[in-house]
Amino acid sequence: MIRARVIGSGSCLPANVVTNDDLAKRVETSDAWIRERTGIIQRHIAVEGEKTSDLALGAARAALIDAGIDAGELDIIICATTTPDESFPATATIVQSRLGMTRGAAFDVQAVCSGFIYGMALADSLIRTGAARTILLIGAETMSRLLDWSDRTTCVLFGDGAGAVVLQAHTGIGDNSDQGVLNTRIFSDGRLHDMLYADGGVSSTQSAGKLRMQGKEVFKHAITNIAAAIVASSEAAGLKIEDIDWFVPHQANQRILDGTAKKLGIDPAKVISTVALHGNTSAASVPLALVAAVKDGRIKRGDLVLLEAMGGGFTWGAALLRW
Ligand code: ACO
Repeated sequence: MIRARVIGSGSCLPANVVTNDDLAKRVETSDAWIRERTGIIQRHIAVEGEKTSDLALGAARAALIDAGIDAGELDIIICATTTPDESFPATATIVQSRLGMTRGAAFDVQAVCSGFIYGMALADSLIRTGAARTILLIGAETMSRLLDWSDRTTCVLFGDGAGAVVLQAHTGIGDNSDQGVLNTRIFSDGRLHDMLYADGGVSSTQSAGKLRMQGKEVFKHAITNIAAAIVASSEAAGLKIEDIDWFVPHQANQRILDGTAKKLGIDPAKVISTVALHGNTSAASVPLALVAAVKDGRIKRGDLVLLEAMGGGFTWGAALLRW
């Protein structure tokens, strides 16, 4: 059986760090409020002229070096993003050009904070069906560009960054001992649009709009939906929650991470958290957390890793991998 195995990973964060105290100079907030309600201490914010494609390219180059392959070996680039450089073409094609890749295909996936999980589901399918052998999957965002910087209820939550993995076809025996993606589960419910959206777009206002959110409602749905995705993925693999070595959640809020772990009886020591340092980087948050835990040696070859996310739409999902 063909499996999509991660052969390399990398990330890129803007150099510019913005602390909670920095934000308290712009809106009526405090370090204590932000830490207590979200766990966030700082976030990286792109400087003027620094675009999503720059961060995506940085993460892509790091992942290719880690994989030990050249861009010419890629069949497909998928970029999960809600904050593309331009309305078109896809940010993935900008990365394709800047990597010097002249063959294959490149396209974006839009599922907001769940984008990397949706991209993983697509990449896994393309590899398992034989349509592609090697895929670069990127999650990249400049969420700072979509924020209303006068709205303290949203502007303190988000950050910018990018993470990427290289997935390659690998022959397995078809059970849970295989290295690579074991399953993916993706969901959405468009009725919940109004809880989290951007109030603009090409066909409605001819501008990108600003992020709008009903925080309390999002919070409640996040724990329920993320827990459901984790259960769906682990049950599909015939595994119990305790069989999983590492949980790599979308980094929205430490209280969502803690609430989900509590609901499912997950040992908090198995939950990778980077929200304190990165804030919510939307589609970049799962790969940024994943790369952090791989680089610091927590996630090792052979470990069972469950990635999960939820975002606007609502969209949510999970991907189970043997690293
Ligand atoms: N600084 C200081 N006070 C604030 C701030 C701020 N930045 N933001 C809101 N407040 C005030 C409110 O105005 C309110 O004041 P009031 O009582 O006088 O009316 C008070 O703090 C409490 O506000 P709540 O909205 O009740 O605070 P809550 O505990 O719900 O926390 C938060 C708000 C952090 C947004 C929380 O609801 C949350 O995390 N929701 C999930 C949202 C999320 O993560 N979205 C990301 C995208 S979706 C995803 O990724 C899953």
